[in-house]
Amino acid sequence: MDPVRNPYAPGAGQRPPELAGRDRELDAFDIVLERVARGRPERSLVLTGLRGVGKTVLLNALRSAAVRQGWGTGKLEARPDTPLRRPLAAALHLAVRELAGRHPAEADEVLGVVKAFALRSVDPGAKVRSRWQPGIDVPAATGRADSGDVEVDLVELLTDVAGLAAAAGKGVAVCIDEMQDLMPDDVSALCAACHELSQQGLPLIVVGAGLPHLPAVLSASKSYSERLFRYARIDRLDRGQADRALRAPAHDEDAEFTDDALEALYAATEGYPYFVQAYGKVAWDVAPRSPITAGDVAVAAPEAEAELAVGFFGSRFERATPAEREYMRAMGELGVELGDGPVATAEVAHLLGRKPQSLSPARDALLKKGLIWSGERGQIAFTVPHFGRYLRANAPD
Ligand SMILES: Nc1ncnc2c1ncn2[C@@H]1O[C@H](COP(=O)(O)OP(=O)(O)OP(=O)(O)O)[C@@H](O)[C@H]1O
Ligand SMILES: [Mg+2]
Repeated sequence: MDPVRNPYAPGAGQRPPELAGRDRELDAFDIVLERVARGRPERSLVLTGLRGVGKTVLLNALRSAAVRQGWGTGKLEARPDTPLRRPLAAALHLAVRELAGRHPAEADEVLGVVKAFALRSVDPGAKVRSRWQPGIDVPAATGRADSGDVEVDLVELLTDVAGLAAAAGKGVAVCIDEMQDLMPDDVSALCAACHELSQQGLPLIVVGAGLPHLPAVLSASKSYSERLFRYARIDRLDRGQADRALRAPAHDEDAEFTDDALEALYAATEGYPYFVQAYGKVAWDVAPRSPITAGDVAVAAPEAEAELAVGFFGSRFERATPAEREYMRAMGELGVELGDGPVATAEVAHLLGRKPQSLSPARDALLKKGLIWSGERGQIAFTVPHFGRYLRANAPD
């Protein structure tokens, strides 16, 4: 069918034509927004899930919901070994501008604090001062959020930003994607600051998204994090939701799927949103006419898999070193009998004929790169759905 009218959107963070199966989270979030703006106690929210299940897309949708309520919002993506200060300052800069409206003078004062916070990121021990400047054109405040102790500074900064929102009867949502990649000091400071703000009843929440071990990262940092955050596990779509994700966009273009086609699509995608979009896209292109049939899906499958092999799996596999690839291939082999569930690290070592300790560097690097995760001690699993199958089918060297 006409590729120009193809509605499907495979790609990291690509807004799907139909956000299927997330109504519960969206509705719950509307209540959180209402409550926080009225000074009621509410926990911050953390979305967790495997690669490609739709965390980023949902995070963006929650942010949009906050914007619709007139909140100040900002978003950042955490990166390994990158301090939080600058990206957080940039995100809050946006949030404050959104809130400035009727309080421009107060907003400028808060921006001065945001700037002071950002500038403090310059390594105090450095001989040459960085010439980096945040794009905030008010003078930096002094004596506020600039002590150099990230926890102290974060409390002051967030208190001021949230105070501005409170004066306007609104709130602030700070969205943090890939939150598991925050540096340990920043995680702990962020938890402490959220704790402090919620005790003061200030209207600021963090909305985080990350891999399944993110709750463990947070609770390792602060034992009270479970009371601070509500964890929402974002999962693959069930059959009805996956059908809706495919059908609704087609319907808008006057096209349909046969029931057999939907069944074949679910068998291939297992409802993983990235795969749903990838298969939907190719099935649409190869189908000569509506309705799209199971035969069309069969024709589409090799092309859809080839595209996933490059765009979804291959791009990740390429980030791994030879030793890490060997480790993952062993995981993939062991996964055959376990339906690609978690495998024991000891088994991986056994299969490779190595001492477990000698494999720790490869395992730790894979954890850091977000390719594997560990739900319990001694167990590891791929963060990327169907990755074991991909490795077995492609065995790239
Ligand atoms: N609820 C949904 N219904 C239909 N399609 C969806 C849904 N959520 C996400 N998608 C699609 O799935 C793909 C992956 O979404 P997204 O990038 O948000 O996943 P992610 O969980 O952030 O992945 P990663 O961990 O790799 O960052 C996108 O193509 C998006 O359009
Ligand atoms: Mg994402």
